[in-house]
Amino acid sequence: MSATAPDVPDRVRIHPAPTLRGSVDVAGDKSIGHRALLIGALSAAPVAVDGVPDAGDVRASAAALRALGVRVELEVDGDGRLAGTVHAPLQGGPDPQPVPIDCGNSGTTLRLLAGVAAGAGRHVLLDGDASLRRRPVDRIMAPLVAMGARASARDGRLPPLDLAGGRLHGVTWDSPVASAQVKSAVLLAGVAAGVEVRVRSPHPSRDHTERMLGHGGVTVRTTHAADGGEEVHLTPGAAPRPKRLTVPRDPSAAAFWHVAAACGAGTITTPAVGLNPGRTGALDVLRALGAAVTVHDAEERCGEPVGTVTVAPGRLTGATVDGALVVRSLDELPVLALAGACSDEGLTVRDAGELRVKESDRIGTLGALFAALGLAFVAHPDGFDVPGGQRPGGGAVDAAGDHRIAMTAAVAASLGTGPVDIDGFASVATSYPTFLDDLAALGGAVEVRDA
Ligand code: S3P
Repeated sequence: MSATAPDVPDRVRIHPAPTLRGSVDVAGDKSIGHRALLIGALSAAPVAVDGVPDAGDVRASAAALRALGVRVELEVDGDGRLAGTVHAPLQGGPDPQPVPIDCGNSGTTLRLLAGVAAGAGRHVLLDGDASLRRRPVDRIMAPLVAMGARASARDGRLPPLDLAGGRLHGVTWDSPVASAQVKSAVLLAGVAAGVEVRVRSPHPSRDHTERMLGHGGVTVRTTHAADGGEEVHLTPGAAPRPKRLTVPRDPSAAAFWHVAAACGAGTITTPAVGLNPGRTGALDVLRALGAAVTVHDAEERCGEPVGTVTVAPGRLTGATVDGALVVRSLDELPVLALAGACSDEGLTVRDAGELRVKESDRIGTLGALFAALGLAFVAHPDGFDVPGGQRPGGGAVDAAGDHRIAMTAAVAASLGTGPVDIDGFASVATSYPTFLDDLAALGGAVEVRDA
């Protein structure tokens, strides 16, 4: 397996599609895929994994573990996802020199691996592409330093991050942001170092790490405070011993099709997608807009709820997204903005300042995308307003190296009135390399432009 994901063309033209409908097996879940590899590496014995997305970000996590000496064997299965074995456990240091690790475009690789490496007593130099170099790492440096690690970063807050672990001690960490990446970095450092940690956050965030550790026999308990805050408590104990880790399909990938369906393209079904409550905010926003969303065949796999989601066209009214719902729908807000445009009353988003530190400043890049397609959009420091009653026009857009902006542009083009030329589409390989195949299979009109 090479370190890079399958190619996705960088310059595409998407034409309006009369209908998009059918059933689509979306990519494996990126968030859970990272955790299967990283928790696999902290386990007491080799761990079999399957359903892992063959995506650039997850390949970055696999390559990072290999750089630290972990044998990670992954092969593409018949379904285009990765299956294989992580040969745990990750060995401790000392490292005579910091081990250079290229996290590519993946913030999750950088932040979660920081916890793993520091807890295991390794010395690493974590770096990435131009987008990742603009994203803050001080949010994970602070708790890891409080646990006894040494850390330095560019301007004290940006990658590259030089991080040296050691004999870490326990911590109670009050995170000012509700971030699953921060929470997971601290929990994984606690697991790797065998120390007790508590992480408090202002709102609950996705709990894939807690569930996978629990599935592996680690004691992790979550309590919710009256003010909406969350506290996660990890009790030190033996290394995880998970049985096979099966990764569900990615609800954040499915959201592109759910929005297309809700906006009238046709009925679309996405089987076996993850339904972790920390990830179902987009479905709740679509329901609040008045979309016809049904969930069937719900079951649990490796501690994660999974089910088939069908969305049918319907009349959309309007909705507001703020507070705890933002954390549960953050990655889907770009494509949900489109659902706002095709609703009657529009979509209002607040409390979403975190959008500004994703793969791009997503309030800025979404505003540019909407402007290019002739759609009204009002940016706010912590969110945006999208008026209703709008249909995208044709145009030319640059995805600014952001996979979710690229895929939002492709859905807008399919629902719109004219062709859209998208540059920078190759970024989609980081999370959903088969997106264009799935769009075409649903009835979309995809043209690859010359390089
Ligand atoms: C992720 C958590 C979220 C999300 C990101 C993946 C994870 O980030 O936006 O795409 O896998 O833990 P934050 O936890 O920083 O909000």
